[in-house]
Amino acid sequence: MPMGSEQKDRIFAKENARTIPAEWYHDTGIYRRECENLFHHDWMLFCHEALLSTPGEYVAYTLAGRPVMVLRGKDGELKGFHNLCRHRASMVLKEGQGKTGVLRCMYHGWVYDSDGKLCKAPGFGGDEAALCERTSLFPVHVRSFAGLVFISMAENPPVFEKTLGALPQALEQEDLSAFKFHSMASHRLKCNWKTYIENYMEGYHIPVLHPELNRDIDFESYKVVTENRIARHETGLRADRAEDAANTGLWVWLWPHVALNIYKDGMNLEIVNPVGPEETELRYCYLFRDVSPEKEEENRKVIDLSFTVTQQDIEICEIVQKNLSAGVYDTGELSPRHENGVVHFHDMVRAVHA
Ligand code: FES
Ligand SMILES: [Fe+2]
Repeated sequence: MPMGSEQKDRIFAKENARTIPAEWYHDTGIYRRECENLFHHDWMLFCHEALLSTPGEYVAYTLAGRPVMVLRGKDGELKGFHNLCRHRASMVLKEGQGKTGVLRCMYHGWVYDSDGKLCKAPGFGGDEAALCERTSLFPVHVRSFAGLVFISMAENPPVFEKTLGALPQALEQEDLSAFKFHSMASHRLKCNWKTYIENYMEGYHIPVLHPELNRDIDFESYKVVTENRIARHETGLRADRAEDAANTGLWVWLWPHVALNIYKDGMNLEIVNPVGPEETELRYCYLFRDVSPEKEEENRKVIDLSFTVTQQDIEICEIVQKNLSAGVYDTGELSPRHENGVVHFHDMVRAVHA
């Protein structure tokens, strides 16, 4: 029977597209290449600017194997450095977020200013002034857009605006800088970073895996729209759930490792942080328009549903990873109706390894 035009309209990817090889999800060489060519080179989302609103505030964590810190300097500018003391390679700041007047190394107490320049090496002996003169932290580049703070560890980073792709257009109606920080959550997953991302790239699994979320959305109209480094989930709400739907809104992925889930009165910023070939950290940052105690119950509802959905996703990603590493499966066929986002992501991953 010929395919009706209505059905044809719902086909978004070419037929017979296949996944990338299973080996790419656990091989050490592949992982190293992705770190070198992508995570340590391109602009990567580091955190939300709400964590760095006043001088001295910092965020420090290990992104794709490299400890990095970003802080608000005394001059009000954002500064980024490798969190690596030039003495004997300790981290300068303990990882986390907070506020500090000085960057004092946690090992022997060398002190750097907010421009990364060494200004004291207590008890070092010899010519301390000359040591300070020749010693600075290794810088990383920092740029921000709409409250999103990006870093590049490359000496000569790619053009920042190109990195954003179609994100500025997708966010045209949103004012992300109006959101205030609420809380962070970190989840460890026993899977490759790509296993998690491609789970984000399709809504195909929602009716089976996420019954709580499925209650709110109109799955029939669900689609993922891809363009220039982003993918946008589009779905209608079920008419009877429009009032209660806590976690629906604009869901956007930005290549390679970011998801912005923007709800009516808040957002969850997801950073997918590679830790090893088969280990990933999910860094969630919850922000809301109003973080006052009166709104807490409402905000919690959003976080709780997000937590439920995340646990379901983590469980399935770890199950999938086991089989990707087990040596039985190589590639599988992708749905032309639902998995065009995965096709788009895999094309970009292939380009990293071309
Ligand atoms: S490693 Fe930092 S002061 Fe020694
Ligand atoms: Fe999911």
